[in-house]
Amino acid sequence: MQFGYFDDEQREYVIQQPDTPLPWINYLGCEDYFGIISNTAGGYSFYKDARLRRLTRYRYNNVPLDAGGRYLYLRDDDPIENHSRPLFWSPTWQPTRLPLDEYECRHGMGYTNIRSRLAGIESEIRYFVPLGENLETWELTLTNHRQAAANLSIFSAIEFCLWDALDDATNFQRNYNVGEVEVLDEVIYHKSEYRERRNHFAYFACSEPLTGFDTQRVAFLGPYRDWSNPLGVEKGSLTRSIATGWQPIGAQHVKVSLDPGVQKSVIFILGYHENLLDDKFDPPDSQTINKRSVLPIISRYLAKNEINRSFQSLGEYWNGLLEKQQVTTPDEHTNRMVNIWNVYQTMATFNLSRSASYFESGIGRGMGFRDSNQDLLGFVHLNPDLARQRILDLAATQLPDGGAYHQYQPLTKRGNDDIGSNFNDDPLWLVLSTAAYLKETGDWEILDELVPFDNTLGTEESLYEHLHRSIQYTIDRRGPHGLPLIGRADWNDCLNLNCFSNTPGQSFQTTINKEGKVAESIFIAGLFIQAAKEMGEISKRHASSHDPDKYSQLANQMEATVWESGWDGDWFLRAYDDYGNPLGSKDCEEGRIFIEPQGICIMAGLGIEDGRATQALDAVAEHLATPHGIVLHQPAFSRYYLHLGEISTYPAGYKENAGIFCHNNPWVMIAEAAVGRGDAAFDYYLRINPSAREAISEIHRCEPYVYAQMIAGRDAPSTGEAKNSWLTGTAAWNYVAITQWMLGIRPTFVGLQVEPVMPANWDGFDVIRYYRDVRYEISISRQGPGNQVLLIIEGDPIDGTCIPLPPAGTSVVRVTANIGEA
Ligand code: BGC
Ligand code: NOJ
Repeated sequence: MQFGYFDDEQREYVIQQPDTPLPWINYLGCEDYFGIISNTAGGYSFYKDARLRRLTRYRYNNVPLDAGGRYLYLRDDDPIENHSRPLFWSPTWQPTRLPLDEYECRHGMGYTNIRSRLAGIESEIRYFVPLGENLETWELTLTNHRQAAANLSIFSAIEFCLWDALDDATNFQRNYNVGEVEVLDEVIYHKSEYRERRNHFAYFACSEPLTGFDTQRVAFLGPYRDWSNPLGVEKGSLTRSIATGWQPIGAQHVKVSLDPGVQKSVIFILGYHENLLDDKFDPPDSQTINKRSVLPIISRYLAKNEINRSFQSLGEYWNGLLEKQQVTTPDEHTNRMVNIWNVYQTMATFNLSRSASYFESGIGRGMGFRDSNQDLLGFVHLNPDLARQRILDLAATQLPDGGAYHQYQPLTKRGNDDIGSNFNDDPLWLVLSTAAYLKETGDWEILDELVPFDNTLGTEESLYEHLHRSIQYTIDRRGPHGLPLIGRADWNDCLNLNCFSNTPGQSFQTTINKEGKVAESIFIAGLFIQAAKEMGEISKRHASSHDPDKYSQLANQMEATVWESGWDGDWFLRAYDDYGNPLGSKDCEEGRIFIEPQGICIMAGLGIEDGRATQALDAVAEHLATPHGIVLHQPAFSRYYLHLGEISTYPAGYKENAGIFCHNNPWVMIAEAAVGRGDAAFDYYLRINPSAREAISEIHRCEPYVYAQMIAGRDAPSTGEAKNSWLTGTAAWNYVAITQWMLGIRPTFVGLQVEPVMPANWDGFDVIRYYRDVRYEISISRQGPGNQVLLIIEGDPIDGTCIPLPPAGTSVVRVTANIGEA
């Protein structure tokens, strides 16, 4: 069953009923100001950091779901005969949830449009964040389809957050006292804590003269009422309350009179503004916000022309990004995801890592070190400059021993000490992201950039040295078999082999672990081999004091160690626990085979020549593959195991306990492509592709336009049900798997490689790819079975599968690739 449809032409998903199984959300903003918006206008806004600089409140896990948002109410001011209460409704359905005659929500690239109709009044609201600004605009357009004139009241309502979202949700003894606002010339300013150390405030303004306003929540809602029936809206008038303490809000009242057929636009803007610390007040010795620099911005964006102009710029910006790679394949789900939604989602994950979504309260998780490095793999071609800066930011949080904070705060760019560290895979991901950047751009100078450790002045070393220490970190931490020690956990945050927690409620992610010297990870071994190989290639091309051959030797040694102690006969083992017992072995009763080491070791090149890779992949197909994707392991853990940790806390089939973690399914797709099995790779691709799952939306439940972190596995009662959409490494990895390995358009250190491993029944496909400022027009055509590639560049056949870099000044290169035996 579907709740909407894709409008590929407009690059929109169109939702046709408001009560989707879960709020189906979109992201507004892609620079410093962000908002999350659901299909019924729920969500919240923040500046840079969802925890430390939150503008509006949102209530997670509330009843009903999705409470708090960008709310508007329409009220019929003409008395209705035989009605006990006046007619008012939310044109976005929430929060009044009055049934609408028509409803349609269009989520597009950086904007959301919600159109509805009730009682002859049509309303359309377009929400977006103009590029370069720290504000969001809501443009409401009303049309009177009645035969008679309509006298309407429009009410807006947002609830301000007192900046630090964690404190806001917990520290009520303080919060009930600090709320402050100013209302001047009909603009509502939220200025809690401005009197002391803050130099920022929020504002809420409207293009029309206000009939009234409220800034104290209880004045607007009335005692013991909620957002579905505010007293002010019911009565049709607000009280001009000025919040002191309690819960500051912004509510505005505008009256309009529309003749039949007449249309009217009203613009609302919500924004964030900073003043210079020594110029906060006007007059200087007062406590009044200095508004000199914000007023021009407010008046600019309250004009319809400006809104239209900046909406157009936003569209052009996204066209420019999406144009970097466009494909035309025989499969509509591939085209739609690769050309639109997968890229869009990768941008959101790049921007926010895992910090803020409908499932992530924006409080617990800053920018993940491992996460952000992986996001870069799918993002780097979109905006190499931003990718470069991110790599340097990440490296600057690295510790002198090569280790990494697991997360850092986007506002401060400092490592977050509250979150546990010693996830021993973390540092290696920096090598992979930097390698991807170098392959995309050829900007070798980045390796010489001086970057501090732990953001400490005076500790600067080259980025190259940071990468070296990432490799060294693993070398310095090896266990009894010579395999990497796992530390707190590896990619699987919940495989906590050194934790032994028996205290209820203790966090596996942050609690003190034993200094484990035994538990080893075959996953990290595979990742290490991949990273060391990349490092070998990088150092061959970069002058440094380190011996370039060293890295390939380290990779070879680790590979030998994996074959010796990490291969179970039919597949790769997962780990050794603290007692030295194997995990992910046919000798285990539960957790006999895991997906991660199969994917990562084969991606590192293990067993491709001698058939063991194929053997491991056959085992994945036999034991782990389900119609909804590939589960993490089998059999699921049926009870809590002290020596395994969080992985065994989840009921079977959910999350890390044998859920379908969409993040690592693409590793198996890449591995299948690496062994030349295009049909298998593509089959796995479609099983989790959200567009391909649209028809089963009632089972999948999450948005059909973005990947979710997890789909419940075969052991779960709700198998096939997705959770935690949007912010997941799944976005970048699926993009890499489909574009670089199945479609085979792969940046390398020396040029663009074309090596498709496509389904047998595809005749071919076309790709337009911008690479190092050159437009490549690539046409792939199947000549017969197999994956053999013959490249023809501008009419001339060449040897190999890599397009040599064209002479400087070339703007277009036309490539034909003949695939298979003729
Ligand atoms: C989740 C993981 C997550 C970790 C850190 C665990 O409870 O299962 O998926 O990465 O917490 O937030
Ligand atoms: C989600 C985390 O963001 C990611 O870093 C981790 O690898 C997976 N959970 C698996 O535990």
